[in-house]
Amino acid sequence: MLKFLLCMLCTFCFSSISARQAFLPLVIQFDNTTARCTNGDLISGCAAFNRSPEIGPFFEMLKEEYQITTVIETGTYQGSTTAFFARVFDEVHTIDSSPNFLNQSKNALSALQNIQYHLGSSERVLSEILPGLKDRFILFYLDAHWEQYWPLLDELEVINRTHHQRCVVVIDDIKVPGRHDVPYDYYGNKECSFEFAKEKIEKIFDRYEMHYLVPANPAMRAKLVIMPK
Ligand SMILES: C[S@@+](CC[C@H](N)C(=O)[O-])C[C@H]1O[C@@H](n2cnc3c(N)ncnc32)[C@H](O)[C@@H]1O
Repeated sequence: MLKFLLCMLCTFCFSSISARQAFLPLVIQFDNTTARCTNGDLISGCAAFNRSPEIGPFFEMLKEEYQITTVIETGTYQGSTTAFFARVFDEVHTIDSSPNFLNQSKNALSALQNIQYHLGSSERVLSEILPGLKDRFILFYLDAHWEQYWPLLDELEVINRTHHQRCVVVIDDIKVPGRHDVPYDYYGNKECSFEFAKEKIEKIFDRYEMHYLVPANPAMRAKLVIMPK
């Protein structure tokens, strides 16, 4: 059912951009979703992206555009975004440093057989698993934070070793220029912004385009998508 809804949304929202991502604006503001979400919807993927399933079709578009089979998510938490990825892509790896969050998600999503769970700090796990996936084009969804150590820059450094120009990188909870209505993350005096990660991003990509995805409810926070050109 979810796949059907997403396909419908994809068709209506993205039919005009599927031909080489033509003319996507820098900031993409999503409208309300027609997908129905209830409290029991974790496994359906409807609660993905901080309960902003309207963003889902954008990932369907990326899958088609780059022929992506494999997603790696850092920061599993309750597995709601993991569930969405597992329904859309062939293989999903999700990484969390908390055994509790990882085990809870494993139990909740046990019906989804294409998810591999990895316990540990994301930059370390990435450096272990990426050499074995080096021949694949990968979608990285970077959402590991909340602890004292914020692994984002180290994750990007590790990704560059094996996936230079052969990945899409998504960073959650990012600052959107000019959008004061969209909250974003801070770590001490460091803000989660493109500028903060720019040097690392430009190591991974020789040529890239990027877009900020702003959900219908901006309080649910934005994602920055960086993709090769
Ligand atoms: C914002 S939540 C992830 C939300 C999830 N991606 C989603 O969309 O529902 C952040 C998660 O990152 C995890 N985390 C924090 N530091 C980490 C690290 N260094 N490595 C891996 N996971 C980490 C936390 O335990 C928490 O579950």
